[in-house]
Amino acid sequence: MGVIVRTDGTLAIRSEEVLAMPRSLVASGSGNSARDVPVATLKKLKGAARAVAKHAYCPYSGFSVGAAALSTKGETFTGCNVENASYGLTICAERSAIFQMIARAHTALSVLVIYTPTPTPWAPCGACRQVIAEFGPEARVISVCDGPEILRLSLAELLPHAFGPHNLK
Ligand code: THU
Repeated sequence: MGVIVRTDGTLAIRSEEVLAMPRSLVASGSGNSARDVPVATLKKLKGAARAVAKHAYCPYSGFSVGAAALSTKGETFTGCNVENASYGLTICAERSAIFQMIARAHTALSVLVIYTPTPTPWAPCGACRQVIAEFGPEARVISVCDGPEILRLSLAELLPHAFGPHNLK
């Protein structure tokens, strides 16, 4: 393992996964970057997200998603998507994992890993971005899939100019 130099001059952990990232993503973003998550942590979270996706209840879409939320206190919580015959009551894996975290009195999100059974990684939906903003304005969001590519984004990249708790103070 070594380091890579980003275009902004800062360093990141060098791994096969980082090297597999599209060049545009390696170069983009700044600040509290998702690229700073250690490879061992990412592997553990990816395993947890992938495992919980097997429990997804998705008879309508047939699309199983898993998420692993690492709290700032260092504990991991998982969630999968749970669909409903009314469609609109469906909850995504990301929110499911974050709500598990909140229910265990961990109120701050550090890293969220999302697994989709797709050849390329998918970013979270808009509703989930808003919930991530509530509990993890500094969170690193990492999407993984069945292919080698990994999408690593900060919440600021996913939801610029976010509406949040600060707006109501
Ligand atoms: N889904 C998620 O779990 N997370 C997302 O970010 C996007 C979509 C789920 C909801 C639904 O059960 C299925 O994927 C198809 O949209």
